[in-house]
Amino acid sequence: MDFLEQSVLPQSSHHMVLLKYLLMLAFILYIPYISILFGSLSYSLFFKRKADKTGLKLYKKFSKELIDMITFNKGAAFALGVVPLLSSVFAYAQLLHLSGLNVPVYLLISLLFLIAALFLIYTYKYTFHLKDIFEHSSRLYRDKYAEEEKESGSTDEELKEELAYYHLKTGSMHKRSALYGLIFLLVSVYLFIGSVQLAADTSRWSEGSNLFGVLFSWSALTYFLQFIAAAFAVTSAVILYRFFRPNAGLEGYEEDYREYIKSFALRSGLISTIALPAFVVMAIISKPVTSLSFSVFGITVVVLALLLLASSLFYVMLKESSVKFSSSVIYLFLLLFAFIVIKDQLAFYTSTKKQTALLAANYGEYEKKLKEQFGISSAPINGADIFNGRCIACHSFDKKIVGPPYNQIMPKYEGKKDQLVKYIMNPVKVDPEYPAMPNQGLKPNEAEAAAEYLLNTYKKEK
Ligand code: HEC
Repeated sequence: MDFLEQSVLPQSSHHMVLLKYLLMLAFILYIPYISILFGSLSYSLFFKRKADKTGLKLYKKFSKELIDMITFNKGAAFALGVVPLLSSVFAYAQLLHLSGLNVPVYLLISLLFLIAALFLIYTYKYTFHLKDIFEHSSRLYRDKYAEEEKESGSTDEELKEELAYYHLKTGSMHKRSALYGLIFLLVSVYLFIGSVQLAADTSRWSEGSNLFGVLFSWSALTYFLQFIAAAFAVTSAVILYRFFRPNAGLEGYEEDYREYIKSFALRSGLISTIALPAFVVMAIISKPVTSLSFSVFGITVVVLALLLLASSLFYVMLKESSVKFSSSVIYLFLLLFAFIVIKDQLAFYTSTKKQTALLAANYGEYEKKLKEQFGISSAPINGADIFNGRCIACHSFDKKIVGPPYNQIMPKYEGKKDQLVKYIMNPVKVDPEYPAMPNQGLKPNEAEAAAEYLLNTYKKEK
């Protein structure tokens, strides 16, 4: 991907620190959003299948509300899903520059899958509503016009057929968009996790620059499981909060279903929160030793403690069949996601210290070239080198070559370095016995060094 390479500008190590913070921020927005998106979509599909099996309308209604819950705002999908992922593409392109890793490209592919998944999820949502409208209008049609048709003796077959046809179409589009949406979302998430894990594991850099290395690694797998458990846990808390707060929306539901859905969310929340610590520990074990540090361990302990707290809260709620801690659990999970991101990014920085040093050196080179280009230099310029490289072809101290010997011309410049520099920078015709001296294209600091060298050497030699 050329344009990704072109987007890379050598960065100073200070800028790289800034980039790393931005990356952290992007993930802190992206991961909770994508978790709740995945969780709601899965639960929505689960309840839809249940509705198809049992024919119970209430499951279907809940399935629809779940998908409406996460698609409340397209701006959110853009700001919390697309933009952070796109930023991480560019951040990684900078941070992994010269490493030969294709991570930014895989992240870009992950982004394309995410966009496709979002498109399908929105189709799923709209076809849900469309299907309802079709069903409703068919019913209306039956009830209202059947009478009239009987009286008039003519039926509007065309309209009936059209209704049936589009109803069917919408139905199959609905089914497919949900399933493919889920698959695309999973592919996007897996690619994202695999890429981020590969970037953090320098020991796999040499072999891992192909897609295989991204997809098949222990750490990618454990992080994927961690993601799924966390997604179910946080989505359960969101469901409890969204639907079971006092007067929050499930009014039309029968008491049995309310209880069923509540205990479903409490149970799956509790189970996934209990499963999570195992994945968090596995994730630490699957990390390369080079990425571990005291702070990574410290944050892991905090994460485990927060998980313990979250599972106790779920447990208490399940026991009391209440939802009183649901908002606390949501905050806990947002905190947990932030800690997990910080922990993993710290591990990434620890293991890529060498890469950072390499880029800093590259930046040093770049900076030097840039300065040279404008004649600004921090390194001392050697007048002797310039003389030997640029002047010796036409000048010597005591012999006439193309230009006059220096012992002839230097007397008039003694103590007038500025004038000498001015001449060297911009030679003018002086002596009719000689041709004009061509401009040597020296930068001010170089001309100055050459002038100094000439004056000193002349002093010594005379
Ligand atoms: C292509 C040959 C050539 C090169 C290379 C060259 N010079 Fe000259 N230089 C001349 C000639 C010819 C003159 C005499 C010009 C005149 O009298 O108009 C001259 C004259 C000079 C003079 C005397 C000017 C005066 O006031 O009489 C100085 C000083 C000088 N060169 C310095 C340098 C320095 C320093 C360099 C290297 C950075 C350099 N030259 C490289 C050909 C050259």
